[in-house]
Amino acid sequence: MATGTQPPPDSTGLGGRGVRATGVRGPTRASIAAGHLRTDRWWLAPAGTAAGLLAFIVYSTWRAFVQSHYYAAPYVSPFYSPCVADNCAPMRHGPNWDLFGSWWGLSPALLILIFPLGFRLTCYYYRKAYYRGFWASPPACAVAEPHTKYSGETRFPLILQNIHRYFFYAALLVACVLTYDTVLSFRDETYAWGHMGLGSLVFVVNIVLIWAYTLSCHSCRHVIGGRLRHFSAHPVRYRLWGWVGKLNNRHMQLAWASLISVAVCDFYVYLLATGTFADPRFL
Ligand code: FES
Repeated sequence: MATGTQPPPDSTGLGGRGVRATGVRGPTRASIAAGHLRTDRWWLAPAGTAAGLLAFIVYSTWRAFVQSHYYAAPYVSPFYSPCVADNCAPMRHGPNWDLFGSWWGLSPALLILIFPLGFRLTCYYYRKAYYRGFWASPPACAVAEPHTKYSGETRFPLILQNIHRYFFYAALLVACVLTYDTVLSFRDETYAWGHMGLGSLVFVVNIVLIWAYTLSCHSCRHVIGGRLRHFSAHPVRYRLWGWVGKLNNRHMQLAWASLISVAVCDFYVYLLATGTFADPRFL
């Protein structure tokens, strides 16, 4: 591939701008005139990622703030569960705890979404996805990023990404609550067992994907198999670590599948609650 005339290497490491360049502009890296040497459509992946994430952000922001149509017995939207504010809609299904007094006037979803949101925001995969998609840092493999400085995640605010492991524990609790909601989706409006509608299946698929994504987390893998000197002395943890590792290999796919499924689940409840659609019942 032709690269044109190449300038002499910048031995000062200042990138010609008086600022010490790091990363691909650093003094130890090959100096080429071209921005990159890739000839494929490398921008497709980050552009698609950014578009997908943006669509979810717009949808979830609307649903989180709209504060209505999140309960259609026996289904509770995963965006609003557990509902822990005084201003929650009266719900017979799902956890509905008044942990916050009447002073909380905003949407009850905001009190809960902070945990799954924090979990995904600090997730290793999503970090890669939005660093590339929104910040072009870097835009793609072998494509130089436009920023002259790179400090990684060693300084504020990105150093806060390290709290991911704590969000993992919170995500476990949220997954337990959503599991409870899924079980309750098999109770009808009168709270009697034996109900099964299309919504029950939507909830089952969603919770399976939520658990698969949560357990495929890198922090989960470390909690289960990390800090061990000899796997042979911990056969159970070794076995679990192997299972989680298999899920971990699919972490990106599970991240997207669970993101889509949680939005579909919420939208399904919205359609029922607004009367746009009637839940087909099998039992
Ligand atoms: S690394 Fe993605 S959820 Fe933990």
